[in-house]
Amino acid sequence: MLGSRSIFQNHKLSALDTPNRDFSIKEWLPLKELAADKNILFGASARYNQVISDEQFAALFAQECSLLVPEWELKWSAGDHQLRPSPNEFDFSAADAMLNFAQTHNLLFRGHALIWHESLPRWFQQVVNHQNAANVMKHHIETVVGHYKGRMHSWDVVNEAIEYDPLASQRADGLRRTPWFEFLGPDYIDLAFRIAAKADPDALLVYNDFGIDYNTAMDKAKRRAILGLLKRLKAKGTPIHALGIQAHLRGDSLDFDPKSLRQFLKEVAALDLKILITEMDVNDSKLPADIQRRDRIVAGVYEDYLSVVLDEPAVIAVITWGLSDRYTYLSKFFPRSDHQPVRPLPLDTNLQPKLAWNALARAFQQTHKR
Ligand code: G3I
Repeated sequence: MLGSRSIFQNHKLSALDTPNRDFSIKEWLPLKELAADKNILFGASARYNQVISDEQFAALFAQECSLLVPEWELKWSAGDHQLRPSPNEFDFSAADAMLNFAQTHNLLFRGHALIWHESLPRWFQQVVNHQNAANVMKHHIETVVGHYKGRMHSWDVVNEAIEYDPLASQRADGLRRTPWFEFLGPDYIDLAFRIAAKADPDALLVYNDFGIDYNTAMDKAKRRAILGLLKRLKAKGTPIHALGIQAHLRGDSLDFDPKSLRQFLKEVAALDLKILITEMDVNDSKLPADIQRRDRIVAGVYEDYLSVVLDEPAVIAVITWGLSDRYTYLSKFFPRSDHQPVRPLPLDTNLQPKLAWNALARAFQQTHKR
C-alpha cells in the first residue's frame, strides 16, 4: 500500500493520469534518428559491464543512441571502477573500453564528471588540502581530458556546485561548501573550466546540475542560483559553453509549470550558452502499482517536459540516465515501497519500448529543426 502522502489517496492522480491520452507515433524509427532529423542528439548513460558484457543491451544501445556517457567510469571513483586508484594513478581501462564501444558503433562520447564533491576516492580526504588542491585539480583535469583529447563530445567540468536547497544556504550565491570550495574558494569553478579548455579546446564544456524542473520555492531558488553562477562565469570570460540540466523528474509531481521553465531556458540561452538535458529519467516510485497507469503517467511527464525544453533552440541534446529499466540507479536509490520493479526509462527490462519511448519519439517528431 502506498504511503498516506501519496497523491493517489488524495485523488490528485487524475491530474496526471489521462487514460485517453494519445501516445501514437507517425513512424517507428530509432530515437537517435528521430532526434537527428531535428539536429538534436539523443543518447544515454551506461556502465562498463552493460555495454561490454550484455550483448542484447549493447545492440539496443547502439540502435537507439548516438551518444554514450559512462555512468561511473569517468568519475574519480564509483561502483567497482576506480579511475583514480591513488594520488599518482589513473586507470583508464574501463572508460577506454567504453570509448572503443562508442567508436565501433559511431557514437559520440561524453565525459562525466571532472570536478564533483561526490564519488571521490577514499584517499582524497587524507591527501588533498588547501596547499595542494589546485595542483590536484590541475593534474586530474589535464591528465583525464588530455587522455581523451579530440575524442570527447562534451565534459561535465563541474557537477552540482549549487546547494541542494539554496534557500537553506548561508551563502547568497547558493554555492555548496564542497571540499573544492573550502580549499580553493568560489573561483574553483572558473579554474576547472580554464584547465579543461586548455587540455581540450574542442570539447564542449558544461556546468551540470539538477533541481530546476518544477515551480517549487526550492527549484526556483536553484534556477536563480544557477543563473547567477552562469552570469558570473560569463562575465569573467570563463570558457563555459553549456548548461547541463539533469532532469531527474518525478512522476508524482504536481508542480510542473511550463511557463516558468520555458522562461528559465530562455534566460540561460540569452547568455549565449547551449543547453543539454543530461540525465533524464522519471521516478515512478510514488505512482500506483498498476503498470499501465504508471507507464502512462511516466510517458506524459516525458512528453510534457520535452515539449517545453525542445521549444528552446539552444537545447541540443537529450540524454537519459540509463536506456532500459533493466539498468537504472533508481532501483537502488528510490525503490518502490511495494517492492515492484521501477519503470523510469524508455525501454523495459526486456528492452521493449514503453510509452516513455513513444513520448520521446513524439517529442522529437513534434519539435522544430535546429
Ligand atoms: O554496488 C556497489 C557495491 O557492490 C560496492 O561495494 C560499493 C562500493 O562503493 O559500490 C556500490 O555501487 C554504488 C552504486 O551507486 C550502486 O548502484 C556506488 O558505490 C555508487 O557510487 C553508485 O552511485 C552512483 C552515484 O551517481 C554516485 O556516483 C549511481 O550509480 C549513479 O547513477 C549516480 O549518478 C548521479 C550522477 O553522477 C550525477 N547526477 C545525479 C545522478 C544520480 O544520483
